Amino acid sequence: MAETSLREQILALFLGAGDVFLSGEDISQRLGVSRAAIWKHISQLRELGYTIEAVPSRGYHLLSQPDLLLPAAVQAGLDTRCIGQRVEYFTETDSTNVRAQELAEHGALEGTVVIADSQSAGRGRMGRRWSSPAGVNLYTSIVLRPRMLPTQAAQLTFLSAVAVARTIEQVTGVKVTVKWPNDILLDGRKIAGLLNELSAEMEGVHHVVLGIGVNLNMTADQFPDDLRYPATSLLLHTGQPVCRLEFAQQLLRQLDELYQLFLRQGFVPIRLAWEALFELLGRTVEVDCGGQIFVGDVAGLAEDGALLLDLQGGGRQEIYAGDVTPLN
Ligand code: BTN
Repeated sequence: MAETSLREQILALFLGAGDVFLSGEDISQRLGVSRAAIWKHISQLRELGYTIEAVPSRGYHLLSQPDLLLPAAVQAGLDTRCIGQRVEYFTETDSTNVRAQELAEHGALEGTVVIADSQSAGRGRMGRRWSSPAGVNLYTSIVLRPRMLPTQAAQLTFLSAVAVARTIEQVTGVKVTVKWPNDILLDGRKIAGLLNELSAEMEGVHHVVLGIGVNLNMTADQFPDDLRYPATSLLLHTGQPVCRLEFAQQLLRQLDELYQLFLRQGFVPIRLAWEALFELLGRTVEVDCGGQIFVGDVAGLAEDGALLLDLQGGGRQEIYAGDVTPLN
């Protein structure tokens, strides 16, 4: 049995048992390993910040856990249908999206989740970097295998945006807005970013990786100096630290719920939920598409995720990429 896997199994036993003592004998029998091996892994858990008391003739008792996103902790009490049935954790990796793509290519089940405490090469959109310091934020990527055409895959970006927005409100009470196509804003500052990557052929999607980065407890000095867009974190906004574990679990639940809805009812309820978070709906905007400028009223989202603009001169334009600026 792999070392981390035994540690995970011991942690899962503690978290599943509730506020009780587990004897070394009991753990040893349930997991089929020696008491010495159990002692070694309990010591490792303590080093990670788990407070586990040992009382002679009663056994071990988990008193408190650190805010770490170990798979057993993320999965404890996670009553989802699909998302999070498998969780892979890295203390540091280059990018969770890269790890998730690899797992997907090797046949990982739909709903597999990759989480990292830090990323050395976190990927943003348009080849940009996503700043990913350790111990403060959430960096996660989820493998999905929807039966859809590649042209529909953008729909899942809007699904992740709604899930992130709902989780932020649920955990902190703070309301956020969305910026087309895939930013989450708090008072006009970026609080989360989404990078969905697709593996597909003309006839259909092999898999989609939903990459989600949320600035939870980042401090001002941890943001890079060369940010293209003003950014913030929930800690900076509210003054209160956010429990990463609670946030990650709620996000996986929201994603699961919205994905089940999407599978049953298609894109329409997702589109409506996203449009409700979109402050520019109905507003007059200017869209700069790399030099070509369109001016019109925002009418909503198309099936393929394009922004629909009712042009001032008449007619409707579908926008696939561009910078949107409100005009009034
Ligand atoms: C953006 O707004 O530019 C998208 C940022 C996406 C960042 C997340 S963090 C988890 C996942 N892994 C990555 O390398 N990127 C995404």
